[in-house]
Amino acid sequence: MCGIVGYVGDNKSLEVLLGGLKRLEYRGYDSAGVAVIGEDGTMDTRKRAGKLQVLLDDLETRPIANGATGIGHTRWATHGGPTDRNAHPHLGADGKLALIHNGIIENFSELKQELLDSGATFSSETDTEVAAILVGREYEQTHDLTESLRRVVARLEGAFTLLVMHADQPGIVVGARRNSPLVIGLGDGENFLGSDVAAFVEFTRRAVAIGQDQIVTIRPDSVVVTDFEGAPVETEEFEIAWDASASEKGGWSSFMAKEISEEPEAVANTILGRVHDGLVDLKELEPLGDLKDIDRIVIIACGTAAYAGMLGKYAIEQWSRIPVDVELSHEFRYRNPILTERTLVISISQSGETMDTLMAVKYAVDHKAKVLSVCNTQGATIPRESHAVVYTHAGPEVAVASTKAFLAQVTALYLIGLELGKLRGTLADDEIRENVRELQAVPEKIAEILSVSQAEIAQLAHWMTDTQSVLFLGRNVGYPVALEGALKLKELAYIHAEGFAAGELKHGPIALIEPGQVVFVVVPSPRDPNSLHPKVVSNIQEIRARGARVIAIAEKGDAAVLPFADEVIPIPLAGSLFEPFLAVVPLHIFGMELSSAKGLDVDQPRNLAKSVTVE
Ligand code: M6R
Repeated sequence: MCGIVGYVGDNKSLEVLLGGLKRLEYRGYDSAGVAVIGEDGTMDTRKRAGKLQVLLDDLETRPIANGATGIGHTRWATHGGPTDRNAHPHLGADGKLALIHNGIIENFSELKQELLDSGATFSSETDTEVAAILVGREYEQTHDLTESLRRVVARLEGAFTLLVMHADQPGIVVGARRNSPLVIGLGDGENFLGSDVAAFVEFTRRAVAIGQDQIVTIRPDSVVVTDFEGAPVETEEFEIAWDASASEKGGWSSFMAKEISEEPEAVANTILGRVHDGLVDLKELEPLGDLKDIDRIVIIACGTAAYAGMLGKYAIEQWSRIPVDVELSHEFRYRNPILTERTLVISISQSGETMDTLMAVKYAVDHKAKVLSVCNTQGATIPRESHAVVYTHAGPEVAVASTKAFLAQVTALYLIGLELGKLRGTLADDEIRENVRELQAVPEKIAEILSVSQAEIAQLAHWMTDTQSVLFLGRNVGYPVALEGALKLKELAYIHAEGFAAGELKHGPIALIEPGQVVFVVVPSPRDPNSLHPKVVSNIQEIRARGARVIAIAEKGDAAVLPFADEVIPIPLAGSLFEPFLAVVPLHIFGMELSSAKGLDVDQPRNLAKSVTVE
């Protein structure tokens, strides 16, 4: 949730920190701050509530010294409101030690009381300041920053990434992590720390992920990683696949506009290199061993990733004939779920850091299930904790509302479904080839929607800026699409939106229909002989009869729907299982357009953070 960046090297720490914070702002944007040790060995800090721009403007009018050592932070408030005082960095008692934090220190009240009893004073309401004062006190004893942090983390409970530096120790930044992300960037005569690689990708493509309960000390010419007991740890370097420009807006009005435009590539790149001779070839599943004996799959995820999981269920069950359950990670983890060695757990996470999903993954590993993660972010924690990973290649997703990553996640799940069908012999080669062809055709069809319908959908959104409530209906694979459409509208346009399975309408939700109620309906293709098309058209007639204003997302040329819909957004023809890839695109566009028509911040909706790293 919070974004963290640390730097040691040349006299350019401010430039690195502010550049890093710009790229990390999507993680948290209710306040931001930096601390820099200047050439004269004094430490300067500046922190401001509000978006990063408030801090940048402040630094412009009241500059602080640049230096060779610095840390920076964007905050998503947990303990204490978004104020200047609660913004990070927090200082030790003598003002010489600065500390930033991502996560929650669960035992902070006890520690704070202990510090108050011993005469400490606090200038914020945060849990973080407790850690700053504790590390400062340890430093007075040890004069060793790494040892001081090590002693303090041994006393902390909860999830945290901490970075510290001390005015008496220029050229050193020390970090520690437990259950929150931290990645090292390796430079030439300089080194970096960040909550994700976006923090430093402008300066280096060489990175190292830090494991659980580890401490890292960076100097300009060295990086030392140990565990919380001080034992050295082996690390593995990886090359960052994204380049810095991939996380820039590049002329688009918002990151979300750019990311929706990248939906075709997100699907295409996720397929790339995973099809040989028309068949899926997912070598990434090999670490899971023999999958023939799997008797159940449980998909765990949150938010949009969970809707991708629901689509994965339809495809995987259909192709592999293995029963699939989909559960929200936070519900799964705390209900004593039944797992065996024959259970395959598939976690889905764009960030790879969602704490609810991470905890569920650890639970599944501890309970002997095979755990596969579908993830978009290299070096993230969830893939590291899993037995195997299938990366989605959507590229960096910066807008808080997920769009292209959703499509990449569904693509990865479909590939997994086809691979399982191949391994278990439930699909013949020609069936796999046919489905692969359908999947490979998806990017071009999405591109067609983007070029044909975008303006019309924007117009629709502009007419609807005063709308208070929107419902979304879908059946079968259209149902998760309806849920996704509703979530996008809640988070982007701040209006009441609900997604329903269309068949459920008559069991209650139809009571919500009154004249003028806007309802988006995801209509299945009429071409499939088993299609639910007639039933969905009946549902449309039922709500139309009660005054609903119907916006249908329907296959091009679907004449049956025209007489009953106020608007029809056409999508290209596709096989039933592949329709969601197309039907969801207008809903992504609509959410974005309604948000911007209402003058809201498309990329950074209120109260939300991109990486939800607290439970
Ligand atoms: O990074 P993850 O995919 O694990 O994130 C999961 C959800 O927090 C995320 O999809 C969230 O629901 C988005 N705001 C949806 O647009």
